[in-house]
Amino acid sequence: MGKTTAAITSVSGYIPEDKLTNFDLEKMVDTTDEWITTRTGIKERRILKDPEKALSDMGVIMIRQLCEKRGIEPSELDLIVVGTVTGDYRFPSTANVICDKVGATNAWGFDVSAACSGFIYSLTVGSQFIETGKYKKVAVVGADVMSSIVNYKDRATCVIFGDGGGAVLLEPNNEGLGVLDTIMKNDGSGRQYLLQKIGGSLTPITKENVGSDEQYIYQDGKVVFKHAVTSVADVSVEIMERNNLTGEDVNWLVPHQANLRIIDACARRMGLSTDKVMVNIEKYGNTTSGTIPLCLWEWESQLRKGDNVVLSAFGGGFTWGSVYLKWAYDGSQK
Ligand code: UT7
Repeated sequence: MGKTTAAITSVSGYIPEDKLTNFDLEKMVDTTDEWITTRTGIKERRILKDPEKALSDMGVIMIRQLCEKRGIEPSELDLIVVGTVTGDYRFPSTANVICDKVGATNAWGFDVSAACSGFIYSLTVGSQFIETGKYKKVAVVGADVMSSIVNYKDRATCVIFGDGGGAVLLEPNNEGLGVLDTIMKNDGSGRQYLLQKIGGSLTPITKENVGSDEQYIYQDGKVVFKHAVTSVADVSVEIMERNNLTGEDVNWLVPHQANLRIIDACARRMGLSTDKVMVNIEKYGNTTSGTIPLCLWEWESQLRKGDNVVLSAFGGGFTWGSVYLKWAYDGSQK
């Protein structure tokens, strides 16, 4: 029997119904559909408008769908890992809340905070519990409600982000399928370029600062772009080289959806044609931890057993990394 790896055996996703288009944004801030489309590739994004709903409600839908597709009950899950920066509360973790709401009575869970790298960090963590033989069923969620921290008066950020996400189920595999390699990186000296400035222990919310623009997401887009475009391509090429993969061998690149120009540059460095790159940024914008599982969910029917898949992301922190996996089932048969 070969080494035990963590294989993705089911994928789910959720996007809220309400759309916020570039034309809607033209009426809210000084921007144009033309600027947003050419600079980012985004045409519209989804917004979780129901004031009664939060990240955990999206997560519950994802976990239910994930289990139904695999023919199991949430009570069979051992662990739920949630990559997010927009949990229901600062604490307790949203994984806790999801376990309760979905009836994952035999699971424990925790959240992973790595901004736009949240899903690949969480996938790396979740895989370890399968590889060691400790658990048989681990759910990894990547999702965000970015509308809860976006300032809709700031044109530098409000045109970029949206709400949504997805989840994957990890199970043991002994045929050489599943997660085969991961490279995760971070550089905390980049923290001032993409962050939520107040609300943490450094600067708690007070009577004086409540309502200030600093409670929302801040990004120095130009600086982040420069780091992202180089780092995400470097790490994607590094994981290919380490696993003796050429552009021909890679069937799919699943990139974080922050900017179409970053995605194109990464694919070029990897030697991939555009038909091998999953891109849905035009419909959902940047859903932070949600982008990669949302792509897997949308492309599932095109994925084949044995496909070489590279997942790559860059985000606030800075955090970035790549995962190399072999897809474990024919998506068309799901
Ligand atoms: O997902 C996590 C990691 N994040 C990223 O990877 C995002 C990386 N950054 C980016 O994707 C890009 O930097 C942005 C899309 C955020 C911005 O694009 P850019 O080409 O870097 O634009 P810029 O910030 O350099 O701004 C260019 C001009 C400026 O005007 P001036 O100074 O040249 O007159 C901005 O004020 O565009 C202006 N501008 C806008 N104009 C219309 C900035 N935002 C807007 C807007 N509409 N929404």
